[in-house]
This record gives sequence, C-alpha cells and structure tokens, in this order.
Amino acid sequence: MTKDKLRPVGIVGTGSYTPSKVLTNFDLEKIVDTSDEWIRQRTGIVERRIAKDDEASSDLATPAALAALKDANIPPSKVEMIIVATVTPDMTFPTTACMVQKNIVAEHAACFDLLAACSGFSYALEVGRQLIAAHTYKTVLVISADTLSKITDWTDRSICVLFGDGAGAVVLQPVEKGRGILSSYLGADGSQSDILQLPGGGSRNPVSQKLIDERGHYIKMRGQEVFKIAVPTMCKAARKALHLANLDVSDVDLFIPHQANMRIIESVAKRLHIPREKVFINLYKYGNSSSASTAIAVDEAAKEGRMKKGDIVVLSSFGGGLCWGGTVIRW
Ligand code: UT7
Repeated sequence: MTKDKLRPVGIVGTGSYTPSKVLTNFDLEKIVDTSDEWIRQRTGIVERRIAKDDEASSDLATPAALAALKDANIPPSKVEMIIVATVTPDMTFPTTACMVQKNIVAEHAACFDLLAACSGFSYALEVGRQLIAAHTYKTVLVISADTLSKITDWTDRSICVLFGDGAGAVVLQPVEKGRGILSSYLGADGSQSDILQLPGGGSRNPVSQKLIDERGHYIKMRGQEVFKIAVPTMCKAARKALHLANLDVSDVDLFIPHQANMRIIESVAKRLHIPREKVFINLYKYGNSSSASTAIAVDEAAKEGRMKKGDIVVLSSFGGGLCWGGTVIRW
C-alpha cells in the first residue's frame, strides 16, 4: 500500500494494573545481603509490586485491558486483534493473548504474543499501528504484561532488587490526520544477546534437573555492560523516532523512558537535553517491569494529566535481545 493510503493511528484509551503486594527495599534486606541505601543510590527503586503465587501475566493483563477499553468506551466485542508483549507468558502455548481474549470475552479478536523483552511495548505498538494504518483492522488492543518475579533468582542480589510485576494496555484506533503515533524507530543487536537473557526453558536448554540445579531458569544479566549500551541506544531511539516525525528534541513535551534505573534515565535525559520536569518517572514505586514499564507509565501519565491534547510524547525503550524502540506520539 502506498504511504498516502495509510491512515493515522492513535491511542484512544489506556489502562494498567499492578499486583497489590508491595516489596520494599527493607523487605529485600531480610532476603539477600543488600541495603535500602545501595538500592536507592544505584537504581532509584524504593519498592516494587510482586504477583501472588497463583497470579500469572494474563491475570495482570486482563484488568489492564478492561481498564483501557473502559477508558476508550469500546466494548471487548469490538476488538479485532489482541497483542500481548511479554517475556513471562502464562505458558509457552497457548498464548497469553488467547487467555486475555477468553477473560475479557473479545470473541472477534485474533490473538498473538510478541517477545521483544523490555522493548515489547514499542514493538507491539508499531505492529498494531501498521495493522490499522493499512486498513486491515480498526481496533487493536496492545498489552504489555510481565511477572518477572517468577523468573527472578531471589538469591542473587544483583538481580532480585531490580524487577517488579505489572501490566499496561492501550487501545489503538484510527484518529484524525496529524495526531496519534507519528513515527516509530525499532532496532536490535542479536550479537549482544548473552548480556541479558533467560538461558533455560526453551529449545536450547530444555527444562531438566541439571538446568534447575544450575539456576538456568532465572534471568542472567551483566548489569554494567547493559547499562553502558542502554544510555546511548535509548538516546538514539528517541532521536531517530523524532527525526522520522520531522521533529526535534526541543519539541518534546513529555519523555517516557523505559524504567530500569534512575541513573540510566537521568543520563539519557541529560544527553538529550530534556529537563527533568518533562521526564515521566514511576520507577521508584514499581522497579523494572520489563515491557510493562512504558505501558504503565503511559497510562499513569495520561491519568495524571501529564499529556494535553496536541502534546508531543516520546517513548524510548531498551532491553534483552538486545532490542530497542522509540515512538513519537502527538497526544
Ligand atoms: O531492562 C533491561 C535493561 N536493564 C538495565 O538497564 C539494567 C542496567 N544495569 C544497571 O542498572 C546496573 O548495572 C545495576 C543496578 C544492575 C548494578 O549497578 P552498578 O552500579 O553497575 O553496580 P555493579 O554491578 O558494578 O556492582 C557494584 C558493587 C559490587 O560489589 P564490589 O565488587 O564493588 O564489592 C556488587 O557485588 O555492588 C555490589 N552489589 C550489591 N550490593 C548491595 C550488586 N548488587 C548489590 C545489591 N546490594 N543488591
């Protein structure tokens, strides 16, 4: 389809859900050799939400999805596609999107899961946008839901203080010209896949007693290496997306970065010359919730009135893969 035939697509409703259980830095002091001071100084995280033993990603995705549909005033029966970005599906198959479809009774929706780790929301937004822009569908539900607590090694202090659980959702539909998602820039570098991964449980290292004994079913991360790449890459993602929208950093009204580490967010904002008051931060209360982080942030920013009609909002995400994404939205 030629570019002029594509229609503009925007977010017409947002929702999020986080589990009720709060795990503070002081709670973590009782589990591993760490301190509230270390976690605050090195990460900016104060507390995070943790799913119950019987709570899976779809259980977080479902209320987030229903909230987004309510916000958009659209019944589930009108949803034509459900995309769930997650690294912690309820099970390998069927997809978590199918679980959500069943829960919200969206009987006319096609469903699939998408895996782009912490950048899942950026990737899923772009896939959803293209499906509507090309006139394939009119209403797409994009959900990011992760329960990283289920794949966290609670004996590894370098990992377990960082992550939390949650879900965010948006409803995409055609919008008036000049509004909605203006541009998207996605990228990846598989040659760096070993610095952040969950090595076990797939076809490379299927579940076995040996795998479990070696704790291969938990997230492995070389934090400093990830940190060093995250900062310039998140800047690049934001800049490239702005360039594609014929905009400049000075046009940005609100910057919503992936919430992984306060020092990463501050460095990215500084390099981009975006002042602190234009940066949305909720990391301190949720930790890093992978793909859900930017999705929850979009919902909270909307509910807090941080985005006015016409504002330029930039999302920037980065994580395992490595994968990254930048999105520019005229709210
Ligand atoms: O969302 C996907 C993307 N992920 C990220 O963006 C994460 C990127 N990386 C980071 O955020 C940071 O690298 C971390 C927060 C993971 C770690 O911070 P750091 O400043 O890079 O610390 P470090 O790994 O260099 O460790 C410094 C020290 C070490 O001790 P020694 O060797 O200096 O004695 C660690 O053993 O801190 C120690 N340490 C801890 N101490 C207390 C590591 N974790 C902890 C802990 N509590 N939880």
